[in-house]
Amino acid sequence: MARILTGIQSSGRPHLGNILGAIVPAIELSRNPENESFFFIADLHSLVSIKDGKLRHEYARAIAATWLAFGFDFEKNVFWRQSRIQEHTELAWYLNCFTPFPMLANATSFKEKSEKLADVNAGLFTYPVLQAADILLYNANIIPVGKDQKQHLEMTKDIATRFNLLAGEEMLTLPEPQIDERIMTIPGVDGQKMSKSYHNYIDIFVPENELKKAIKKIVSDSTPLEEPKDPETDITFKLYSLVASESEVAAMRQNYLNGGFGYGHAKQALLECMLEKFAEPRRIFNHYMENEQELEGILVAGETKARAIAQETIGKVRKVLGYSS
Ligand code: TYM
Repeated sequence: MARILTGIQSSGRPHLGNILGAIVPAIELSRNPENESFFFIADLHSLVSIKDGKLRHEYARAIAATWLAFGFDFEKNVFWRQSRIQEHTELAWYLNCFTPFPMLANATSFKEKSEKLADVNAGLFTYPVLQAADILLYNANIIPVGKDQKQHLEMTKDIATRFNLLAGEEMLTLPEPQIDERIMTIPGVDGQKMSKSYHNYIDIFVPENELKKAIKKIVSDSTPLEEPKDPETDITFKLYSLVASESEVAAMRQNYLNGGFGYGHAKQALLECMLEKFAEPRRIFNHYMENEQELEGILVAGETKARAIAQETIGKVRKVLGYSS
């Protein structure tokens, strides 16, 4: 039996990149009866960027509602908020002391973000160590993530190996990332990777008129309506091909190649496709956003399961480090 684990930061409402890059593939994996799935809301990681507690709470609710909207079976699996399990921060501290400084200093995501952000705090720097703790606390085997997380997973393995050397055994399980190469990096409306921090994302849960506005913002070239267009370089086409069925994508490719089909038509088709494919997730998402107590109950029950496993690992780690009486 493989243990699957992944998390989403509550640093904003979930966007199409998180959904197609992480949530949907993870839920597909969780449907395999051989797997046991541990999906959580990384609400401690989001403190790096969001200091307003109320806002962070709202975003955490939206992330939780999204997992449920896409059909995560929270009864069979484990579902929790990182902040409610203290062992995440305790293990992160221990692991900090097994993490070479240059490894963090050379991390691509730290370099990229520290150039763009006004608030470059130590939490941003040690972010990968908390991520390693999230994974190692639960002895997870497979970590479905987007391509941008590959380096963090390599660091997790490196840190675990250093700890295991001291422990004298494979106490912490070395995880493997699972990256869906077809999805790669989902583009935002400007063609860069879709990201909360680039403000180029599409929120699929907003009312129809807002979704339409977001889709309208997708950048395109200036090929006139009547001329053929290159589907391979167009962002609307790329997003359409991630949401639509194979036959719909083939028909859309033909429309591009034929000409007489404008980017406005393509955007309208993308909107209709999203509204159709995401009708049920949109309904369930709204249900949980309106029923806070029900959502809270699901999370609290999941946290009881998560805590028991986390405590077991921390007990062993404390022993190795000489912190248990
Ligand atoms: P976050 O919230 O930044 O991203 C959550 C997941 O969404 C994927 N993702 C994308 N995939 C494809 N295209 C995109 N444009 C795109 N944007 C985001 C990310 O790759 C990620 O899988 N550090 C993690 C959160 C985390 C975590 C963990 C993950 C904390 N602890 C332990 C796995 C295991 C992150 O990037 O969150």
